[in-house]
Amino acid sequence: MRALVMTEAGGAEHSRVLDVEPPRPGPGQVAIDVAYAGLNFVDVMARRGDGYAATWPYRPGKEVAGTVRALGAGVTGLAVGTQVVAAVAGGGLAETAVADAALTVPVPDGVPLAAAAAAPLGLATALLLLTDAGRFTAGESVLVHSASGGVGTAVARLLPLLGGGRLLGTVGRPEKAEAARRQGYHAVHARGGDVREQLRAANGGRGVDLVLDPLGTAALDLDLDLLAPGGRIVLFGNAGGGTPDPLPPLPRLLAANATLTGFSHGGLLAQAPARVADAVRRVLDLLAAGSLDAPVTVLPGLADVPAAHDLLAAGRGEGKYVVALAGRPA
Ligand SMILES: NC(=O)c1ccc[n+]([C@@H]2O[C@H](COP(=O)([O-])OP(=O)(O)OC[C@H]3O[C@@H](n4cnc5c(N)ncnc54)[C@H](OP(=O)(O)O)[C@@H]3O)[C@@H](O)[C@H]2O)c1
Repeated sequence: MRALVMTEAGGAEHSRVLDVEPPRPGPGQVAIDVAYAGLNFVDVMARRGDGYAATWPYRPGKEVAGTVRALGAGVTGLAVGTQVVAAVAGGGLAETAVADAALTVPVPDGVPLAAAAAAPLGLATALLLLTDAGRFTAGESVLVHSASGGVGTAVARLLPLLGGGRLLGTVGRPEKAEAARRQGYHAVHARGGDVREQLRAANGGRGVDLVLDPLGTAALDLDLDLLAPGGRIVLFGNAGGGTPDPLPPLPRLLAANATLTGFSHGGLLAQAPARVADAVRRVLDLLAAGSLDAPVTVLPGLADVPAAHDLLAAGRGEGKYVVALAGRPA
């Protein structure tokens, strides 16, 4: 089978599409013929050597949609031929992937596999950020950094389904602001310059109830300045790479009446996989009901993925990307 392989840390020059042995499912696992696989920033972080690739060569890809090809020992409740999505430990950008059965969820009728491929990591993360880590309640204001990216657009699509609220965003480049506004953000500003005042004005001078921040500690001072008393900040990434700064001193956190929360999809997979599987089921149900419309850009094949990773690495991606693989329905 064909798989994307990153041979060493660096850029696209070390990403190759190679013929490799298809993986076999171990006990409690399933093998999936992948129809569509999601692209995620964590694959870019792995590629650039941020420590997400345990060994080289590394096979990236954390979320897939396709058809169950084989069951490992002890797997019940899933059948060969069933259309499923799965969060995978790696190796999702390939024609066949192996997933834990506990993280493999059947796709409801009527949900296109291309859209479903964004559920296990991208959409589930956005939902968990809002509901579990962020404890969002209807009517609150939410500030999202990297608003025009995959998770950022998913948050915009999910927020109205959770009762809605005032949605503010930041982007790294001014030219991406309009794309985020089209996804449902009420106001989006490029970081830097007067962004503090712009965001405060965009929220009517009030503090923000919830901040979703994947920027390490780079924007934490801004977050704390903008936070409403009792507000929550969810830190869920370190997009810039490198060693984040220490957290702000305790008096600063106390004075802001801030709740700081961490979120890691990978951590939940290891420690509480049922919570991820439940979130995946919830977003699939929303897609099936037609209430969630989460558009994706479909790349035609694995050979197109390194250039898309380049876009993400340069902060020039827009929305969510998935790649079509050989196992997709005709
Ligand atoms: N904790 C978790 O479990 C979890 C799960 C999923 C995603 N994430 C994080 O959520 C963020 C969004 O993920 P995604 O897959 O949807 O990716 P994405 O938003 O489509 O792309 C990543 C974005 O990060 C921003 N960025 C900030 N500093 C950057 C830098 N130095 N180099 C490149 N990009 C930079 C860019 O947007 P702007 O320049 O507009 O800010 C870029 O578009 C990522 O940081 C990812 O690591 C975390």
